[in-house]
Amino acid sequence: MSKILVLKSSVLGDASTSNLLVDETVERILGADPAARIVAHDFSVDPIPHLTLDSAAAIRGGEPANDEQAAARTLSDSLVAELKAADTVVIGAPMYNFGIPSALKSWFDHVLRAGVTFRYGEAGPEGLVKGKRAVVILTRGGLYSEGPAQPLDSQEPHLRTMLGFIGITDVTFVRVEKLAFGPEHRDQAIRSARFQIEEALAQPLAEAA
Ligand SMILES: Cc1cc2nc3c(=O)[nH]c(=O)nc-3n(C[C@H](O)[C@H](O)[C@H](O)COP(=O)(O)O)c2cc1C
Repeated sequence: MSKILVLKSSVLGDASTSNLLVDETVERILGADPAARIVAHDFSVDPIPHLTLDSAAAIRGGEPANDEQAAARTLSDSLVAELKAADTVVIGAPMYNFGIPSALKSWFDHVLRAGVTFRYGEAGPEGLVKGKRAVVILTRGGLYSEGPAQPLDSQEPHLRTMLGFIGITDVTFVRVEKLAFGPEHRDQAIRSARFQIEEALAQPLAEAA
């Protein structure tokens, strides 16, 4: 039985292309493995709070010194447990102002924890979240995989860095671009995305380890 962690971060609800493709990805996984266990977050409905003085202290170590810190530690522990339990992570990540939605960044802020999801050893940083694969649906209004806007892309490199830092290096980035260029471009981008998702899921999980 596979275990899937699903993270949605679009604010567009039913009109969101990343939400659509994330849902389709989950349906495909369930089609192949009806017993798959799904844990899902939609941060536009149920956001992870941004870091504060208390939550940062709690997440960065030390014993919680007040109720706020205790709650933040509990939340972070729970999000990390969900991540460690999953074998596939499906992320919907629209481009907002050249990067990822702050709601999704808050999730990363709660799961990148020294000594828990990464550690510093003699050889440098080491990710502790091993044997996972991730499928990341990157939606964009414009074109960033090539052309003049390519250097402006802070979405894919940032996600690659954060996932890789905790040990998730088997990542398929599904680029869904030119969504603001009209319905024809959108339809073409979605068709291409479906093909890329199918290819990613066709890889056996063992190769992700
Ligand atoms: C707040 C906000 C900021 C955006 N910033 C960018 C941007 O910097 N570059 C871009 O190409 N598209 C940008 N867009 C367009 C979205 O990336 C595009 O609408 C995409 O389809 C949204 O993803 P979704 O359909 O998965 O929700 C922005 C959209 C919103 C709502």
